[in-house]
Amino acid sequence: MKIFIDSADLEEIKQAYAWGVCDGVTTNPSLMKKAVDKLVAKGEKLDIKEYITRLLDTARGTPVSLEVTEYSASAMIEQGKRLYDMFNNVAENVNIKVPVNPAFKNDDITHFDGLQAVCALSEQGIPVNCTLIFTPEQALLAAKAGAAYVSPFAGRIDDMLRKNAGMKFEKTDYFPAEGIKRDEVLLDDDGVVSGIDLVEQCVDILGLYEFGVEVIAASLRNPRQAREAALAGSHIATLPFGVIRDMLKHAKTFEGMELFTRDIVPEYVAMLK
Ligand code: E4P
Repeated sequence: MKIFIDSADLEEIKQAYAWGVCDGVTTNPSLMKKAVDKLVAKGEKLDIKEYITRLLDTARGTPVSLEVTEYSASAMIEQGKRLYDMFNNVAENVNIKVPVNPAFKNDDITHFDGLQAVCALSEQGIPVNCTLIFTPEQALLAAKAGAAYVSPFAGRIDDMLRKNAGMKFEKTDYFPAEGIKRDEVLLDDDGVVSGIDLVEQCVDILGLYEFGVEVIAASLRNPRQAREAALAGSHIATLPFGVIRDMLKHAKTFEGMELFTRDIVPEYVAMLK
């Protein structure tokens, strides 16, 4: 499984790449805002074009998703092309992230054209990461429209299932892949029992028909979910830096380090000076 870092924070991205575990980057408007707010809070002058250029350069050789912020098909296509033309020459690694359906609510039929943007951009040779996927059907349609990547949001499905069941939870709390029962009934969203179940259903369906699209398990909030995304056969997991760091932690690793450090023979260290 490839690992992308889900961040627009240059320091985090540089660190994850220095660890040698990063195969790409995903950003979204919220992550971009977080990164920009951090810079501004530090009193640094913001030149967003230069910042994105540095980000793309850091991730050279691996794909970086930059998201559109428009809602109509024509505006998304135009903005996606502009983003690509503006930045792909930096390191030839730009992907355009397009929402599968940019409507704000069920009856907003004027903003239902995410797929049209996916199709038009893909036909022009621009790789598209189709985002905000919450059902396997959305993933299927995005793949048919030509997306290079589909991003099912696992954590947000878990949030919704827990919220609808009136449960108290933290965003990072583990939610079992096989789902949770309340009063003997398995919580589900139209046949999806957990975020990882959503990822697995997307992988299975898209694999059956060999679309060549890659599934990015997104909105992953803890190491165990990353493990389960790998077990589900997800091609990629996009992980916040904190989750990548938490994947390295174990009490026995810390204890082992402490014990080994206590036993170091001074002559051994001296020999290596
Ligand atoms: C995916 O591409 C998104 O950027 C991201 O994974 C969303 O995660 P969140 O639900 O934790 O905000």
